[in-house]
Amino acid sequence: MAPRILLQLFLFGLVIMCLGLFSNAFNPADNYLINCGSPSATTIGRRTFAADVPLSWTLTSSKRIMANTTSNSVSSFSTPALYQTARIFTGASSYTFPIKQQGRHFVRLYFFPFIYQNFNLKIANFTVSTQDTVLLHGYPAQGGAATAVFREYSMNITHKQLILSFVPLPNSSLAFVNAIEVVSVPDNLISDTAQTLNPPGTYQGLSEQAFEMVYRINMGGPYVSPDNDTLWRTWIPDENFLLDKTLAAFKSFSGTINYEGGVTREIAPDVIYSTATELSPALTNTSNARFNVTWQFDVDSGSTYLLRLHFCDIVSDALFELYFDVYISAYMAKSDVDLSTISVNVLAAAYYMDFVVDMTDGSRKLNVSIGPSSLPNVLPAGILNGLEILKMTSNGTVTVVSPPNSKANVGVIIGSVVGALAAVILAACVACIMIRRRKTGKKQESKTWTPLSINGIMSQSLGSGLSDGNTVRMGLNANFGYRFSISVLQEATNNFDEGCVIGVGGFGKVYKGVLKDETIVAVKRGNPKSQQGLNEFHTEIDLLSRLRHRHLVSLIGFCDERNEMILVYEYMEKGTLKNHLYGSNLPALSWKQRLEICIGSARGLHYLHTGQAKAIIHRDVKSANILLDENLMAKVADFGLSKAGPELDQTHVSTAVKGSFGYLDPEYYRRQQLTEKSDVYSFGVVLLEVLCARPVIDPTLPREMVNLAEWAIKFQKRGELDQIVDPRITGTIRSDSLRKFGETVEKCLADCGVDRPAIGDVLWNLEYVLQLQEVDGGTEVNSINRISELPSQIHNMSILETETVDEHLPKKETVDEPGVNDHSNVSMSKVFSQLFQSEGR
Ligand SMILES: *[C@@H]1O[C@H](CO)[C@@H](O)[C@H](O)[C@H]1NC(C)=O
Ligand SMILES: *[C@@H]1O[C@H](CO)[C@@H](O)[C@H](O)[C@H]1NC(C)=O
Ligand SMILES: *[C@@H]1O[C@H](CO)[C@@H](O)[C@H](O)[C@H]1NC(C)=O
Ligand SMILES: *[C@@H]1O[C@H](CO)[C@@H](O)[C@H](O)[C@H]1NC(C)=O
Ligand SMILES: *[C@@H]1O[C@H](CO)[C@@H](O)[C@H](O)[C@H]1NC(C)=O
Ligand SMILES: *[C@@H]1O[C@H](CO)[C@@H](O)[C@H](O)[C@H]1NC(C)=O
Ligand SMILES: *[C@@H]1O[C@H](CO)[C@@H](O)[C@H](O)[C@H]1NC(C)=O
Ligand SMILES: *[C@@H]1O[C@H](CO)[C@@H](O)[C@H](O)[C@H]1NC(C)=O
Ligand SMILES: *[C@@H]1O[C@H](CO)[C@@H](O)[C@H](O)[C@H]1NC(C)=O
Repeated sequence: MAPRILLQLFLFGLVIMCLGLFSNAFNPADNYLINCGSPSATTIGRRTFAADVPLSWTLTSSKRIMANTTSNSVSSFSTPALYQTARIFTGASSYTFPIKQQGRHFVRLYFFPFIYQNFNLKIANFTVSTQDTVLLHGYPAQGGAATAVFREYSMNITHKQLILSFVPLPNSSLAFVNAIEVVSVPDNLISDTAQTLNPPGTYQGLSEQAFEMVYRINMGGPYVSPDNDTLWRTWIPDENFLLDKTLAAFKSFSGTINYEGGVTREIAPDVIYSTATELSPALTNTSNARFNVTWQFDVDSGSTYLLRLHFCDIVSDALFELYFDVYISAYMAKSDVDLSTISVNVLAAAYYMDFVVDMTDGSRKLNVSIGPSSLPNVLPAGILNGLEILKMTSNGTVTVVSPPNSKANVGVIIGSVVGALAAVILAACVACIMIRRRKTGKKQESKTWTPLSINGIMSQSLGSGLSDGNTVRMGLNANFGYRFSISVLQEATNNFDEGCVIGVGGFGKVYKGVLKDETIVAVKRGNPKSQQGLNEFHTEIDLLSRLRHRHLVSLIGFCDERNEMILVYEYMEKGTLKNHLYGSNLPALSWKQRLEICIGSARGLHYLHTGQAKAIIHRDVKSANILLDENLMAKVADFGLSKAGPELDQTHVSTAVKGSFGYLDPEYYRRQQLTEKSDVYSFGVVLLEVLCARPVIDPTLPREMVNLAEWAIKFQKRGELDQIVDPRITGTIRSDSLRKFGETVEKCLADCGVDRPAIGDVLWNLEYVLQLQEVDGGTEVNSINRISELPSQIHNMSILETETVDEHLPKKETVDEPGVNDHSNVSMSKVFSQLFQSEGR
């Protein structure tokens, strides 16, 4: 007998083993498991996490520290070995993983903050991002809590490599990670569409979306460890999420789960479908017992979630017995669910439903309920076997730390200069950020990085190399600017109260708003009837948020919820330049103040014209679009409909004309073409407004005086400009200063664009005008006609501009692309601007 029992046991064991192997049959194409900071490989269950020694992946960093801990708390974690060691970064760094098979992957990150030598990881605060998505902004377990944090993301990797960048935030000089997994999953794990509930419809575009797993629950069953899941997921029991446990009963099943109709064990393994939570049969055996079983989850208001509900009828004895309703929050997700028709007419068939839920109602709780169907002659019942809640990653701004320029699978780390600079950054903490990649003989990389704070909001721009051929995405997924939810803006503007309106323009009304953190903002709400479509709006945000200059009004964020088109700008305390010149009771600005404002505006325009690869034409330069902050510093606003470059085709130009009477370039009428010089013309008109303090068109005046430009230029040509100066400052302008000013205006207003100076030259001349005004004792610096000398000076001027005047002006450099010849994955240098905002995150 004994041998027979042994044989039976052996066969039984064999079956179990086969089942086990079968359940883990999926073989991921990419399978990086790294125990960061560990000098040796670590086996966890049936998987081995490699030592943190770059072989098949690469690592950039200034200073990388491999740290270990003996902390007791680690031993209480489910996988203590992964938390015992960490890689510490003291500057922006990245891991780069070559991706064999593009498509959906899990990226799992393990964190546990401990103290190692003089590094206190409990104060680490950092961002983690891929090329497309911000995964983490700020270490999640704040307040020094010594808790382990595990994060799982699901993302469609469309690049040939995944760059995971770790960037310490300004208030911390540390980033760290304890373990990383980058693992392929079956492409059909997440399909492109799902049902939406608010409003009811279909969500499209899930296949490109990245998700963060927030809950993965095994209803009515035990904790399921990664080893017992087909894709090494972790599932936790549902008990603690039930609002009223007395209404629910747990059920488990020992029969076979039927996987058919496209549902595979990778969607969820048998162990998930074999258990369920149901409406307690003890309470439902009378048909008038009507109650719901509800699970409640904490979520972020303002985020969008993908909910996957797993069902498998393991409770019925026969088909067509079980009917129930499914609710998500207050919405009926599915009524009269009949699992026997949904699947393939068998009991115990695995099935799932996906729903996209927008938490826009401000609620931080998400309810999932099952309840009795209202069909006649049906017993109250209902089940749920599993639930996954995945948060769509917000379109935050990514920071990419480019990998060293070496062949991806050569395990050599080439020196980089990030670290030294990172130290400088943290000390400096002012100025703008810019990364320059530069090829040196030794294939080094150099980066500069400095954050800039605007109204307390961190704004950073970071140039980087994305090594992925042509697939650098500057589109909305690598979006810039912060996406506000409509509720936040409603709150900020007292529900768009008319009393908050501070301006009205072609685009719509502008409201003054106050965010929760007391930042004052200008909220520009697109008129729903405005010509502009949502697509154009997105393109515009993309453009606007890339433009950062201290003489341009900054875009803080936007809102495109519910078809709104709202732009959120920094608020400019002192309003428009126009208002300070005429039509108000504000005290007169002095000549010096006026010149400084003109100089600031010229700088802003100069940045528009030259700061980007393609010149941006403002198209509506006027005194009402020059705003003043509390220190009367000028910033150019409303460059919203700016279009790039002179190489625009004619049709584009003629359909998109914008501009205001009295400011419009006369050449435009003749040649139907707008160039940067059109802005220079308009700016010339602004200069006259500043001098004369009168409207550019004033129909109440005698005919020859109606148009400011025509009228004033006559005085300039006669050398009588002094007669039309704003009477409030007329005696205060030095004649040299006025003469130079007049000459500058005249050049700007030249009939033909080619005869007008570039805005950079105008800027230079205005600085000279200011100098003439301030010269002591009237020493003549006056006989030189700077404009006529300009060609040779342009170059010097721009150097002066970037180096001494404008520390916030991103410095442009010729970029010498490294690696073009030695690698097909050409690195590209791009400038990423970044905006982070605490509210709503
Ligand atoms: C931690 O690292 C130190 C030096 O790197 C080593 O001497 C020590 O044995 C390690 N401790 C553990 C528990 O691995
Ligand atoms: C981490 O950085 C973010 C952004 O700079 C900041 O809001 C947060 O307060 C920081 N947390 C800590 C603990 O310093
Ligand atoms: C920055 O960190 C220091 C200590 O590391 C802390 O005292 C200070 O409050 C932090 N500031 C912010 C804004 O988080
Ligand atoms: C990943 O995204 C690309 C396009 O961005 C799409 O063609 C592909 O089907 C997606 N893959 C998956 C698995 O969703
Ligand atoms: C896997 O599941 C089986 C039975 O459900 C259990 O006995 C075993 O301990 C689990 N293994 C792990 C590693 O969780
Ligand atoms: C309902 O179930 C309870 C407990 O299982 C049982 O005591 C009761 O008799 C049942 N009632 C009916 C109508 O079946
Ligand atoms: C179940 O919950 C939904 C949504 O909250 C609600 O509309 C419905 O009336 C509830 N049903 C019962 C029987 O309580
Ligand atoms: C969730 O359900 C509970 C109990 O039915 C209810 O009080 C609460 O308002 C619901 N919350 C939401 C967001 O629907
Ligand atoms: C990210 O941007 C894309 C493109 O606009 C949009 O479809 C998606 O809903 C956005 N995701 C989130 C979470 O806002």
